Amino acid sequence: MPNFGNYEQIIKDFSWSISEQELDYKPGQVINIGWYCSDRICQQGKADKTALIWEGFSGAKKIYTYNDVRLCSNTIARFITGLGINAGERVCLFLDRIPELYLGFLGILKTGAIVQPLFSAFGEESLFVRLENARTSAIFTQKKHLSKVRKIRDKLPDLKHIIIVDYDGKSPLQEREVPFSMENTEKIENYEVYPTYAETPSVLHYTSGTTGQPKGVQHVHYSLISQYITAKWVLDLRDDDLYWCTADPGWVTGTSYGIIGPFSLGVTQFVLDSGFSAEAWYRFIERNRITVWYSAPTAIRSLMKAGDEIIKKFDLSSLRHLASVGEPLNPEAVNWSIRVFGKPFHDTYWQTETGCIVITNFPGMSVKPGSMGRPFPGITATVLNHSNHEPYPEPGRIGLIGLKPGWPSMMRTYWNNEEAYKNKFRNGWYLTGDRARIDKDGYFWFVGRDDDVINTGGHLVSPFEVESALLEHQAVAESAVVSKPDPINMEVVKAYVTLKPGFTASKDLELDIMNFIRKKLSPLAMPQEIEFVDSLPKTRSGKIMRRILHAKEWGEEIGDTSTLENE
Ligand code: WT7
Repeated sequence: MPNFGNYEQIIKDFSWSISEQELDYKPGQVINIGWYCSDRICQQGKADKTALIWEGFSGAKKIYTYNDVRLCSNTIARFITGLGINAGERVCLFLDRIPELYLGFLGILKTGAIVQPLFSAFGEESLFVRLENARTSAIFTQKKHLSKVRKIRDKLPDLKHIIIVDYDGKSPLQEREVPFSMENTEKIENYEVYPTYAETPSVLHYTSGTTGQPKGVQHVHYSLISQYITAKWVLDLRDDDLYWCTADPGWVTGTSYGIIGPFSLGVTQFVLDSGFSAEAWYRFIERNRITVWYSAPTAIRSLMKAGDEIIKKFDLSSLRHLASVGEPLNPEAVNWSIRVFGKPFHDTYWQTETGCIVITNFPGMSVKPGSMGRPFPGITATVLNHSNHEPYPEPGRIGLIGLKPGWPSMMRTYWNNEEAYKNKFRNGWYLTGDRARIDKDGYFWFVGRDDDVINTGGHLVSPFEVESALLEHQAVAESAVVSKPDPINMEVVKAYVTLKPGFTASKDLELDIMNFIRKKLSPLAMPQEIEFVDSLPKTRSGKIMRRILHAKEWGEEIGDTSTLENE
């Protein structure tokens, strides 16, 4: 029997206090995510239970019990306080998916500091804008990423400590750099966890918008109330589960459901720190007898592409529950998974801003392939009329997904940008920026984003960020960045570029520009194609019209072009 019962009944009786009670939390009390994910589980008699099994790409393996997680996070917490970092300061984790990332996340939270996880494949420019915006005090990193930090630290006066977790003593440390070795540091048995409260800031995740630089989505310790109960009811996590979330904690899935959800439930979870390969993934599931698997549509489509034959080589019968997030999960993928695994992937819809799953296909309820499912209890979701932001009274209409604010893990603001935060609300609704329709049974069907943000393989890329970086290339005069269709990633980045005098379009120049973006921003933001053009479509006021280029890529009607300059 799934953890989740009868939908109509639960919706009727639900209050977030159900989760509070399970967590022994009373309003007004201290609540600290780091403590809940380690000390509390030990106090429940599970100190010797395996918390984390980590595998590196080279086959290296490390195992941590809940007591190990408690001690290691204490040790990191003590180290940070020893550096003089105070509660409320921002500490960045710029690490591959190594154990220090998971232990550091909890350790930082135990000190009352705000943890800022950043994707380790980010290039120096993406890293710089996020550290500068957050005025980050310290960064945990590895030797392999140190050169990126060194390139920008002189422009970051607030960045006082650069902590290297795998320093080998071979090359001299530079100013502000300090080594920290988990293995060689004496473990701290007793650390007095900083008394954080419901509204104390906890995690700062950066997300991309259409305009301007990325925004820091600020969460608070109270988010645990949502993350715990959604992990239990939607991912159906139980005490004996062997859980694998494939997401990187540089992104919100990897923290809400790759750290906080499973650890607060005292579940055993696995981390595989390596890139995608169908064979390696199936082998990982077989070897570890994974029972609950949380992944993403792009990975699922890649597995589909690898074919059904390869699946027959593995025993995947341990899998009990499958879930997916990040992009539209097409019905073909759901039907494929029913055919090859004997069970559907359950779509889950949410955002960095929502902090937890808000719409989903629940375990034990019939899945409508292609639909995102129904709102989580305690979440009021609707589809709003574009023009007046009123919910459509009848089903079937396409509009904006709106959520009634107030659930525990809702973002509290955008870091240092209250204006952008306020702008996300209309008529008492939080606007997700996505479009959908609701069918007569109350199931939500995703239609698309309501802005120009590109969702490539589940990662949001801001056209503005890529355009700004393109302009820094010596050959680029103007640029416009849009998405183009892709069979695996759904969308990929495409750049239109006009060149400065003296430069001519060529394959070499295209590659050079692609590489420039990959290094500066990240491989995700790298355009898969650059089209050199003589001019870009603009409005009369000179604004580049991405809409026209987007329509061209997707073979859509161009629509109203009456404000175009050069028709
Ligand atoms: C955007 C949020 C929250 C985890 C990862 C992404 C898109 C997310 C779905 C889904 C269709 C989805 C939306 C959303 N998205 N889940 N199940 N079906 N689209 O977090 O980076 O903040 O991105 O991803 O467009 O707004 P994020």
